[in-house]
Amino acid sequence: MIVLGIETSCDETSAALYSEQGLLAHAVHYQAVHEEYGGVVPEFASRAHMRTLIPTIRYVIRRAGLSFRDLGAVAVTYGPGLVGSLIVGLNVAKGLAVALRLPLVGINHIEGHIFANFLEEPFPELPGVCLVVSGGHTQLVLVRRLGDYQVLGRTRDDAAGEAFDKVARILGLGYPGGPAIEAAAAAGQENAVSFPRGLMENSYDFSFSGLKTAVLYYHRALSPQEREKRLADVAASFQKAVVDVLVAKALRACQEFGVRSLSVVGGVARNRRLRRALEELAAETGIPVFVPKPEFCTDNAAMIARAGFFHLLHGVRSDLRLAPAPSLNLDSRYLPTD
Ligand code: KG4
Ligand code: ZN
Repeated sequence: MIVLGIETSCDETSAALYSEQGLLAHAVHYQAVHEEYGGVVPEFASRAHMRTLIPTIRYVIRRAGLSFRDLGAVAVTYGPGLVGSLIVGLNVAKGLAVALRLPLVGINHIEGHIFANFLEEPFPELPGVCLVVSGGHTQLVLVRRLGDYQVLGRTRDDAAGEAFDKVARILGLGYPGGPAIEAAAAAGQENAVSFPRGLMENSYDFSFSGLKTAVLYYHRALSPQEREKRLADVAASFQKAVVDVLVAKALRACQEFGVRSLSVVGGVARNRRLRRALEELAAETGIPVFVPKPEFCTDNAAMIARAGFFHLLHGVRSDLRLAPAPSLNLDSRYLPTD
């Protein structure tokens, strides 16, 4: 069974093909239009998906040496995300399902991120803890089995990636902020400024807005010359504060639940400082740590096709009334048809 995966929940237009043989082809179309606005403009995102989704699907089918007739099913993100962006992907998925008489399965985008570590063996052993850190979400999830999740904690304000994006804006760096901060931090001292670590004790919830405000006040108090001189130190100290909180909470959850693996997924998992901290954690504790290849950390349809393949094999189908669910949660015993 060849599953076409479609992902359009935010500002990445992506298609992929996954089968018993693994990932056959995938492509992500990055929407540069948002850069000059310093963040995603929802209407522009929908319009860009309209223009590029079908060419992206055609491209992956051609890359795999296949035709539309070879497809066995369609898996599509139906939430959480921007409603206008989700609608574009859903309607294309439904059109293909009707025209080609294929089963359709709606995928929770957060669950998709969890499947990014199941594209290539070795897979994480379960039960495991999965930390989902992206621009829209920061959640610590207990993965009992694939398809069976318990959210242990989530952010009470900004997501980790959102904190990178907002701090990058404060520091006058570009969008998306994560890669810009990481690049600026490379030349800095990470203990130069002591920024606060939010909600460190007794909770698996996260809070990054206090950290963001601390960076804002620190930056405002500097003269323009000092701002330039201190930029690398501020970026490195901020990055370290985020990494410390993420790693500490993930480790505590692993120990409390006695799991067999830790996975970290989502756009922020691309961050090399975080990846280094996770390698150190694995070496010190012996907990096997899994992080997807960078291209499968940020939004992509490979993870959606993979999650769809799993659910379809278990007999899950969505009907053609499937509607976008902008604030969909990843609940325990989650089923895509709910
Ligand atoms: O998973 P993703 O593509 O989209 C959502 O589902 O939200 O994540 C995008 C987020 C952005 O906030 C971006 O700044 C962040 O991931 N990001 C990074 C890095 N690369 C992307 N954050 C820190 N370091 C990076 N290298
Ligand atoms: Zn995402």
